[in-house]
Amino acid sequence: MWSSTRTSVSCFWGQGQVRSRSSNADFPGIKERTLVAVKPDGVQRRLIGEIIKRFEQRGFRLVGLKMLQAPEKLLAQHYVSLQKKPFYPSLLHYMTSGPVVAMVWEGHNVVRSSRMLVGDTDPAGAAPGTIRGDLSVHISRNVVHASDSVQGAEKEISLWFQSAELIDWEGCDHNNIYHL
Ligand code: TYD
Repeated sequence: MWSSTRTSVSCFWGQGQVRSRSSNADFPGIKERTLVAVKPDGVQRRLIGEIIKRFEQRGFRLVGLKMLQAPEKLLAQHYVSLQKKPFYPSLLHYMTSGPVVAMVWEGHNVVRSSRMLVGDTDPAGAAPGTIRGDLSVHISRNVVHASDSVQGAEKEISLWFQSAELIDWEGCDHNNIYHL
């Protein structure tokens, strides 16, 4: 279970009236989280807003966000499984070439859905409508990262974020996104 800062919200329901709502936010699977990062090319190309928009519009909840110049040590851990690949040195060079925007998104099946939203690793094979399929051309500059498994997401989130940097908040739109 994630430990993170917890906030409570009040929802306004017209007429300036504040009403408490029933919460089923603890239903299993709703609180799945994933790490998404806008890579340096995405930041340079002013695509941060476009990428955030796609996750927001889908109905996922942003629980952590920061811009950083990723240290090589962090990236070496993040891409540990790729260390022996021929493209690894250029991948590290590219990922340290400028700031990245790291985010944690939460929601039902968010890991699997994010991979679908992001599209194939190689933009040439990424479907139109996906982030990579719409916004990139070459595998070496594919604008965005998204964790590829629930276990991987847990590892990556703890690598990129302190638990106090994640906000456990409940949206007033919850019952319009989930019916559980
Ligand atoms: P990988 O983890 O296989 O893909 P994904 O980002 O879709 O989870 O690879 C990590 C990154 O490495 C990938 O986003 C882009 C880069 N990469 C290359 O530059 N060349 C390659 O041939 C591959 C497979 C990846």
